[in-house]
Amino acid sequence: MSIQQEKIKELVERRATARMGGGQKRIDAQHQKGKLTARERLSILLDEGSFEEFDMFVRHRCTNFGMEKTRFDGDGVVTGMGTIDGRLVYVSAQDFTVSGGSMSETMAQKICKVMDMAVRNGAPFIGLNDSGGARIQEGICSLAGYGEIFERNILASGVIPQISGIFGPCAGGAVYSPALTDFTIMIKDTSYMFLTGPGVVKTVTGEEVTQEELGGASIHATKSGVAHFAADSEEEGLQTIKDIFSFLPSNNKEEAPFAETSDPAGRADDSLNDIIPDNPNKAYDMYKVIGSIIDDGKFLEVHSSWAKNIIIGFARMNGRSVGIVANQPNFLAGVLDINASRKAARFVRFCDAFNIPLVTLVDVPGFLCGTQQEYGGIITNGAKLLYAYGEATVPKVTVTLRKSYGGAHITMSCKQLRGDINYAWPSANIAVMGAEGAVEILYSKEIKAIENPVAQAQAAEDRKKEYNDLFCNPYNAASYGYIDDVIEPRNTRFRVIRALEQLAGKKQENPWKKHDNLPL
Ligand code: HXC
Repeated sequence: MSIQQEKIKELVERRATARMGGGQKRIDAQHQKGKLTARERLSILLDEGSFEEFDMFVRHRCTNFGMEKTRFDGDGVVTGMGTIDGRLVYVSAQDFTVSGGSMSETMAQKICKVMDMAVRNGAPFIGLNDSGGARIQEGICSLAGYGEIFERNILASGVIPQISGIFGPCAGGAVYSPALTDFTIMIKDTSYMFLTGPGVVKTVTGEEVTQEELGGASIHATKSGVAHFAADSEEEGLQTIKDIFSFLPSNNKEEAPFAETSDPAGRADDSLNDIIPDNPNKAYDMYKVIGSIIDDGKFLEVHSSWAKNIIIGFARMNGRSVGIVANQPNFLAGVLDINASRKAARFVRFCDAFNIPLVTLVDVPGFLCGTQQEYGGIITNGAKLLYAYGEATVPKVTVTLRKSYGGAHITMSCKQLRGDINYAWPSANIAVMGAEGAVEILYSKEIKAIENPVAQAQAAEDRKKEYNDLFCNPYNAASYGYIDDVIEPRNTRFRVIRALEQLAGKKQENPWKKHDNLPL
């Protein structure tokens, strides 16, 4: 064997060793827990043969607590670049088989290197997390490493899409990087996110709680809203990441990719003409409206199990990506509460940052009132959504289906928040409030003064009719030009697509500022 051949053989062997991470025993343990290894995950995520790994031979430099005896090539993270559907992405996948994926100084350096490349080259960064948090033996060097990653997450925010997969127990610092990114996907039963695990919680607060109860995928997807998606398996979670990316541009200077569709832009749907119940207090399912107007009924819902009174997600209309925001009358009557406002606000801001037009479907009875909401700060939280719509400069097309009352009317992308095209169905009611409440405030004394109960009821009905005739229709708002047109429900898809096409060249800029002061 020539010297050159020997060197090549050594390279092949070194690579093979590095690919074994923390060794076969730990790989087996990972599989026994129902988890894939870092490299297995990347091979599912990326196009076949597209992965190029960087820093495979990096080793940690720590000598505390005998750490010099446990050095593995690549340390606890696999990093590099690859493609998804032919589009460049930068990736990191923490390797739990090496010190539980805990963050060392050198791991942080590897991750920062690919993050810097992603920003420089205008491609998304996808982080697959499976980590026990800061590597305890490295002390401040590990914390500093996290700090470097967080700073990059912050600076990359709004510049390139950042997506986090949670594929194992993520504790401490391991949860804050995902929280700074745009979307977090968790896996049911095998992934957890918490500041500290159940053991520490018991010591500090005395509370006894399981990993699942403290920070499982279901908890974060339904109660806290920390996770945007909860997948049934790692394969499904990785597919979700690819699905999200398919709707996004690679960076904030580009448009999302166009996807051919055979769904005709002019397709009308007669069923929409009958979807609004005669009784204004009766619900209907907003998913049916969304499914009817988007291409091929394909909707990627974000936060499907949290704050279900508002629906958000990605779809395409005549091949172009759009962000859909829609009140859901089927859940809490579609009211805007703290969580619904936070959920939609973040989504609106994401779409605005990445040039994705917003299509807003309105049927909202108002903001939720009461002590629980006031104490939780519905004023500040509701203002987030108001702010998000008001500052957004992407094309904004709004369709009011039924109720649109008070502050919630203004918030849901009204004309004065620079809504570009505002349509209403003939069933729309655009007013300060519904007839019931308005008559109570304006005429309760007058009505109570009527002694005859039949005449009293009739007077209340007459006042309601008077109010409804004046305000509870789309024509009053349309007479001021605040609604651009009243449209037949069956034509909604066609009208929204035509509006979006008209707005494709929209250019709007906000006044220069260092940054805004969103009501956090
Ligand atoms: C060093 C760690 C580690 C850590 C795990 N390991 N966490 N090594 N630093 N933080 C090592 C273990 O020693 C073990 O090594 C291997 O990883 C696998 O861990 P196990 O405990 O055997 O696995 P498992 O039973 O699956 O439990 C996983 C776990 C648990 C739930 C993550 O290890 C755990 O609770 N770790 C600590 C979590 C934590 O409190 N982190 C917070 C750090 S503070 P061997 O050699 O046996 O394979 C922090 C602050 C940053 O992150 C704040 C920034 C804002």
